Amino acid sequence: MKKIVVLTGAGMSAESGISTFRDSGGLWEKYKIDDVATPQAWRKNPALVLDFYNQRRKQLFEVEPNMGHRALAELEKKYEVQIITQNVDNLHERAGSSNILHLHGELMKVRSTGPGEEVYNLTPDNYETHLGDKCPKGFQLRPHIVWFGEAVPEIEKAEHLTTQADILVIIGTSLQVYPAAGLIHNAKPGIPVFLIDPHEITHLPDGITVIQKGASEGLKELTEKYL
Ligand code: APR
Repeated sequence: MKKIVVLTGAGMSAESGISTFRDSGGLWEKYKIDDVATPQAWRKNPALVLDFYNQRRKQLFEVEPNMGHRALAELEKKYEVQIITQNVDNLHERAGSSNILHLHGELMKVRSTGPGEEVYNLTPDNYETHLGDKCPKGFQLRPHIVWFGEAVPEIEKAEHLTTQADILVIIGTSLQVYPAAGLIHNAKPGIPVFLIDPHEITHLPDGITVIQKGASEGLKELTEKYL
Protein backbone atom coordinates (compact mmCIF):
# COMPACT_ATOMS: atom_id res chain seq x y z
CA MET A 1 0.00 0.00 0.00
CA LYS A 2 1.22 3.49 -0.80
CA LYS A 3 1.73 5.81 2.12
CA ILE A 4 -0.02 9.16 2.30
CA VAL A 5 1.17 11.64 4.89
CA VAL A 6 -1.34 14.38 5.66
CA LEU A 7 -0.30 17.55 7.48
CA THR A 8 -3.33 19.32 8.91
CA GLY A 9 -3.86 22.69 10.55
CA ALA A 10 -6.71 24.69 12.02
CA GLY A 11 -8.51 24.96 8.64
CA MET A 12 -9.16 21.20 8.81
CA SER A 13 -11.54 21.78 11.72
CA ALA A 14 -13.01 25.10 10.49
CA GLU A 15 -16.04 23.42 8.91
CA SER A 16 -16.75 21.74 12.24
CA GLY A 17 -17.14 25.21 13.75
CA ILE A 18 -13.78 25.65 15.46
CA SER A 19 -12.34 28.98 14.39
CA THR A 20 -8.82 29.08 12.98
CA PHE A 21 -6.09 31.20 14.57
CA ARG A 22 -5.10 33.70 11.89
CA ASP A 23 -8.15 34.12 9.61
CA SER A 24 -10.21 37.25 10.20
CA GLY A 25 -12.26 36.60 13.34
CA GLY A 26 -9.72 33.94 14.34
CA LEU A 27 -8.73 33.03 17.88
CA TRP A 28 -5.64 35.24 17.90
CA GLU A 29 -7.82 38.29 17.23
CA LYS A 30 -9.83 37.51 20.36
CA TYR A 31 -6.93 36.58 22.63
CA LYS A 32 -3.34 37.69 22.81
CA ILE A 33 -0.90 34.82 22.29
CA ASP A 34 1.25 36.36 25.04
CA ASP A 35 -1.63 36.15 27.53
CA VAL A 36 -2.60 32.51 27.04
CA ALA A 37 -0.16 30.49 24.98
CA THR A 38 3.38 31.04 26.23
CA PRO A 39 5.40 29.84 29.26
CA GLN A 40 5.49 33.50 30.39
CA ALA A 41 1.67 33.66 30.34
CA TRP A 42 1.58 30.52 32.48
CA ARG A 43 3.96 32.06 35.01
CA LYS A 44 2.12 35.38 35.05
CA ASN A 45 -1.50 34.23 35.19
CA PRO A 46 -1.94 30.45 35.24
CA ALA A 47 -5.64 30.73 36.14
CA LEU A 48 -6.31 32.67 32.93
CA VAL A 49 -4.36 30.13 30.88
CA LEU A 50 -6.23 27.21 32.46
CA ASP A 51 -9.54 28.93 31.83
CA PHE A 52 -8.64 29.54 28.18
CA TYR A 53 -8.02 25.82 27.66
CA ASN A 54 -11.10 24.83 29.70
CA GLN A 55 -13.12 26.88 27.21
CA ARG A 56 -11.40 25.25 24.23
CA ARG A 57 -12.29 21.82 25.66
CA LYS A 58 -15.89 22.79 26.29
CA GLN A 59 -16.17 23.82 22.65
CA LEU A 60 -14.85 20.44 21.60
CA PHE A 61 -17.93 18.71 22.97
CA GLU A 62 -20.18 21.00 20.95
CA VAL A 63 -18.67 20.12 17.56
CA GLU A 64 -18.40 17.05 15.35
CA PRO A 65 -15.83 15.85 12.80
CA ASN A 66 -16.64 17.20 9.34
CA MET A 67 -16.73 15.49 5.93
CA GLY A 68 -13.04 16.25 5.50
CA HIS A 69 -12.05 14.38 8.67
CA ARG A 70 -14.26 11.50 7.58
CA ALA A 71 -12.77 11.46 4.06
CA LEU A 72 -9.29 11.05 5.57
CA ALA A 73 -10.48 8.13 7.70
CA GLU A 74 -12.08 6.60 4.59
CA LEU A 75 -8.80 6.90 2.68
CA GLU A 76 -7.38 4.13 4.88
CA LYS A 77 -9.25 1.61 2.72
CA LYS A 78 -6.85 2.33 -0.16
CA TYR A 79 -3.75 3.80 1.44
CA GLU A 80 -1.62 3.70 4.52
CA VAL A 81 -2.52 7.09 5.99
CA GLN A 82 -0.43 8.95 8.54
CA ILE A 83 -1.87 12.19 9.85
CA ILE A 84 0.43 14.78 11.36
CA THR A 85 -1.74 17.46 12.88
CA GLN A 86 -1.01 20.83 14.43
CA ASN A 87 -4.51 20.71 15.87
CA VAL A 88 -5.06 20.02 19.53
CA ASP A 89 -8.67 18.89 19.03
CA ASN A 90 -9.63 15.22 18.77
CA LEU A 91 -11.68 15.37 15.59
CA HIS A 92 -9.37 13.13 13.53
CA GLU A 93 -9.68 10.47 16.24
CA ARG A 94 -13.45 10.83 16.43
CA ALA A 95 -13.72 10.52 12.63
CA GLY A 96 -11.93 7.16 12.83
CA SER A 97 -8.40 7.86 11.59
CA SER A 98 -5.92 5.35 13.01
CA ASN A 99 -2.50 6.99 12.83
CA ILE A 100 -2.39 10.50 14.24
CA LEU A 101 0.62 12.41 15.50
CA HIS A 102 -0.22 15.57 17.42
CA LEU A 103 2.60 18.05 16.96
CA HIS A 104 1.26 20.77 19.26
CA GLY A 105 -0.23 18.62 22.01
CA GLU A 106 -3.78 17.58 22.84
CA LEU A 107 -6.60 19.45 24.54
CA MET A 108 -7.91 16.35 26.27
CA LYS A 109 -4.62 15.73 28.09
CA VAL A 110 -2.88 17.53 30.92
CA ARG A 111 0.57 16.99 32.30
CA SER A 112 2.45 17.42 35.50
CA THR A 113 4.66 20.48 35.94
CA GLY A 114 6.93 18.24 38.03
CA PRO A 115 10.18 16.76 36.72
CA GLY A 116 8.47 13.57 35.47
CA GLU A 117 6.07 15.55 33.21
CA GLU A 118 3.60 12.67 33.44
CA VAL A 119 0.66 12.98 31.06
CA TYR A 120 -2.96 12.31 32.12
CA ASN A 121 -6.13 11.92 30.07
CA LEU A 122 -9.10 14.13 30.80
CA THR A 123 -12.62 12.83 30.30
CA PRO A 124 -15.79 14.52 29.02
CA ASP A 125 -17.16 14.34 32.59
CA ASN A 126 -14.09 15.87 34.09
CA TYR A 127 -12.39 18.06 31.52
CA GLU A 128 -11.65 21.24 33.45
CA THR A 129 -8.35 21.99 35.15
CA HIS A 130 -7.99 24.64 37.83
CA LEU A 131 -5.27 26.07 40.00
CA GLY A 132 -4.69 23.57 42.77
CA ASP A 133 -5.37 20.50 40.57
CA LYS A 134 -2.27 18.44 41.12
CA CYS A 135 -0.69 15.21 39.89
CA PRO A 136 -0.34 12.35 42.41
CA LYS A 137 3.16 13.62 43.28
CA GLY A 138 1.75 17.03 44.21
CA PHE A 139 2.71 19.16 41.21
CA GLN A 140 0.25 21.51 39.51
CA LEU A 141 -1.24 20.16 36.26
CA ARG A 142 -0.88 22.20 33.08
CA PRO A 143 -2.39 21.83 29.59
CA HIS A 144 -0.58 19.26 27.43
CA ILE A 145 -0.06 21.90 24.77
CA VAL A 146 3.08 23.09 23.02
CA TRP A 147 3.13 26.82 23.69
CA PHE A 148 4.94 29.43 21.64
CA GLY A 149 8.58 29.41 22.64
CA GLU A 150 8.53 25.76 23.73
CA ALA A 151 10.24 22.86 22.01
CA VAL A 152 8.14 20.59 19.78
CA PRO A 153 8.98 17.13 21.15
CA GLU A 154 7.34 15.21 18.29
CA ILE A 155 9.04 17.09 15.45
CA GLU A 156 11.73 14.49 14.76
CA LYS A 157 9.15 11.74 14.53
CA ALA A 158 7.09 13.94 12.19
CA GLU A 159 10.13 14.62 10.02
CA HIS A 160 10.89 10.92 9.78
CA LEU A 161 7.27 10.07 8.91
CA THR A 162 7.29 12.75 6.22
CA THR A 163 10.38 11.25 4.59
CA GLN A 164 8.43 7.99 4.19
CA ALA A 165 5.56 9.58 2.27
CA ASP A 166 4.72 8.49 -1.28
CA ILE A 167 2.18 11.31 -1.41
CA LEU A 168 2.03 14.41 0.82
CA VAL A 169 -1.21 16.30 1.43
CA ILE A 170 -1.32 19.60 3.34
CA ILE A 171 -4.69 20.86 4.54
CA GLY A 172 -5.78 24.08 6.23
CA THR A 173 -2.59 25.54 7.58
CA SER A 174 -1.19 29.00 6.92
CA LEU A 175 2.31 27.45 7.13
CA GLN A 176 3.43 30.33 9.30
CA VAL A 177 4.46 28.40 12.39
CA TYR A 178 7.76 26.53 12.47
CA PRO A 179 8.98 23.84 12.75
CA ALA A 180 5.68 22.37 11.43
CA ALA A 181 5.74 24.58 8.34
CA GLY A 182 9.16 23.21 7.41
CA LEU A 183 8.01 19.58 7.27
CA ILE A 184 7.24 19.94 3.56
CA HIS A 185 11.01 20.03 2.95
CA ASN A 186 11.41 16.55 4.42
CA ALA A 187 9.37 14.94 1.67
CA LYS A 188 11.29 12.85 -0.87
CA PRO A 189 12.03 14.94 -3.96
CA GLY A 190 9.54 14.40 -6.78
CA ILE A 191 6.63 12.91 -4.82
CA PRO A 192 3.19 14.39 -5.50
CA VAL A 193 2.39 17.15 -3.00
CA PHE A 194 -1.12 18.60 -2.72
CA LEU A 195 -2.25 21.63 -0.75
CA ILE A 196 -5.91 22.18 0.13
CA ASP A 197 -6.84 25.64 1.41
CA PRO A 198 -9.55 28.09 0.35
CA HIS A 199 -7.16 31.01 0.63
CA GLU A 200 -4.00 31.62 -1.30
CA ILE A 201 -0.86 30.42 0.48
CA THR A 202 2.22 32.30 -0.67
CA HIS A 203 5.90 31.27 -0.73
CA LEU A 204 5.21 27.64 -1.60
CA PRO A 205 7.96 25.48 -3.04
CA ASP A 206 7.56 24.63 -6.75
CA GLY A 207 5.67 21.60 -7.96
CA ILE A 208 2.77 21.63 -5.51
CA THR A 209 -0.74 21.00 -6.79
CA VAL A 210 -2.96 23.58 -5.08
CA ILE A 211 -6.65 22.82 -4.62
CA GLN A 212 -8.04 26.18 -3.56
CA LYS A 213 -11.08 24.89 -1.68
CA GLY A 214 -12.22 24.15 1.86
CA ALA A 215 -11.20 20.86 3.46
CA SER A 216 -14.32 18.80 2.58
CA GLU A 217 -14.65 20.00 -1.01
CA GLY A 218 -10.92 19.89 -1.53
CA LEU A 219 -10.60 16.32 -0.29
CA LYS A 220 -13.47 15.29 -2.53
CA GLU A 221 -11.63 16.75 -5.52
CA LEU A 222 -8.36 15.18 -4.40
CA THR A 223 -9.81 11.67 -4.12
CA GLU A 224 -11.92 11.88 -7.29
CA LYS A 225 -9.30 13.44 -9.51
CA TYR A 226 -5.88 12.45 -8.23
CA LEU A 227 -5.97 9.37 -5.95
N1 APR B 1 -10.77 24.33 4.90
C1 APR B 1 -9.41 24.32 4.78
N2 APR B 1 -8.65 25.35 5.18
C2 APR B 1 -9.23 26.42 5.71
C3 APR B 1 -10.65 26.51 5.87
C4 APR B 1 -11.42 25.40 5.42
N3 APR B 1 -12.75 25.38 5.50
N4 APR B 1 -10.92 27.71 6.42
C5 APR B 1 -9.75 28.33 6.62
N5 APR B 1 -8.73 27.57 6.19
C6 APR B 1 -7.29 27.85 6.18
C7 APR B 1 -6.89 29.31 6.18
O1 APR B 1 -6.94 29.83 4.87
C8 APR B 1 -5.46 29.26 6.72
O2 APR B 1 -4.52 29.07 5.69
O3 APR B 1 -6.72 27.34 7.36
C9 APR B 1 -5.49 28.01 7.63
C10 APR B 1 -5.44 28.31 9.10
O4 APR B 1 -4.24 28.92 9.44
P1 APR B 1 -3.89 29.29 10.95
O5 APR B 1 -5.06 29.95 11.57
O6 APR B 1 -2.61 30.03 10.93
O7 APR B 1 -3.74 27.87 11.66
P2 APR B 1 -2.50 26.87 11.67
O8 APR B 1 -1.68 26.99 10.43
O9 APR B 1 -3.03 25.54 12.01
O10 APR B 1 -1.66 27.43 12.89
C11 APR B 1 -0.49 26.77 13.27
O11 APR B 1 -0.23 28.17 15.19
O12 APR B 1 -1.49 29.27 16.76
C12 APR B 1 -0.61 28.22 16.55
O13 APR B 1 -0.29 26.23 17.71
C13 APR B 1 -1.23 26.91 16.92
O14 APR B 1 -1.26 24.83 15.72
C14 APR B 1 -1.41 26.22 15.58
C15 APR B 1 -0.29 26.83 14.75
